[in-house]
Amino acid sequence: MEIIVAESYEQMSRLAADMIERQLLRKPSSVLGLATGSTPVGFYQELVRRHAQQGLDFSKVITFNLDEYLDLSPSHPQSYRYFMDHNLFNFINVDPKNIHVPYGHTEEVDEFCDWYEQEIKRVGGIDIQVLGIGADGHIAFNEPGSSLGSRTRLKTLTKQTIDDNARFFDNPEEVPRFAITMGVGTILEAKEIILLAHGAKKAEIVAQALEGPITAQVSASALQMHRHVTVIVDAEGGSLLKRADYYRWVFEEKKRLVPRLIGKVT
Ligand code: PGA
Repeated sequence: MEIIVAESYEQMSRLAADMIERQLLRKPSSVLGLATGSTPVGFYQELVRRHAQQGLDFSKVITFNLDEYLDLSPSHPQSYRYFMDHNLFNFINVDPKNIHVPYGHTEEVDEFCDWYEQEIKRVGGIDIQVLGIGADGHIAFNEPGSSLGSRTRLKTLTKQTIDDNARFFDNPEEVPRFAITMGVGTILEAKEIILLAHGAKKAEIVAQALEGPITAQVSASALQMHRHVTVIVDAEGGSLLKRADYYRWVFEEKKRLVPRLIGKVT
């Protein structure tokens, strides 16, 4: 696991975009796993900017989003499909038929979840999965207690997640209680993972997930078992990491000596 403590949210977003850009130059038909939430907004803006100004090409890219609320249609402004359209997809040249966001209005949830898993396999698996982290340690909607081997399925959201998400809805009662989410096991099968976290509100859970024990009580701690994870946090998000000085030193040495190794496992 490589941990980069960036100076700012903007630097965090740029570094993540650098990794995606390198991946797309290496493999234009990459399969990208994408996340929603406030954390990746700057990263998506940076990808959109690079597409517009530098021709970063998404024409062959295939995308899979992590999760979607149950019973919200793709056109609902709080659905994750809507979020992705309005933060990324509408502004890049991704082929709409290559976009996959779990379909929240499905009647057959189990069948849908099995199909989603099969689709990921059919295209050869996810090359890079981008993740945020919830204040309760969730990745996607894998709330505390989710099996570390879990697959795409229906999950009930915790009270904390519902409260955290209430800011996006007019009425707290409207916040969905259920979601379709990739499992921890699904996520761990991605070939490479980027975890982003920013702000003081995430500092405690980031420290637990990265430097604490691996436990199903903190889903993100499962990332410690993956062989190629790059964590990029801003200074506030990384402020409670015990070994922050070491992570900063590694990053500075790489920048100075071999910048191409940033985002490569150490
Ligand atoms: P946030 O959510 O980016 O809005 O903080 C992250 C998450 O819950 O995964």
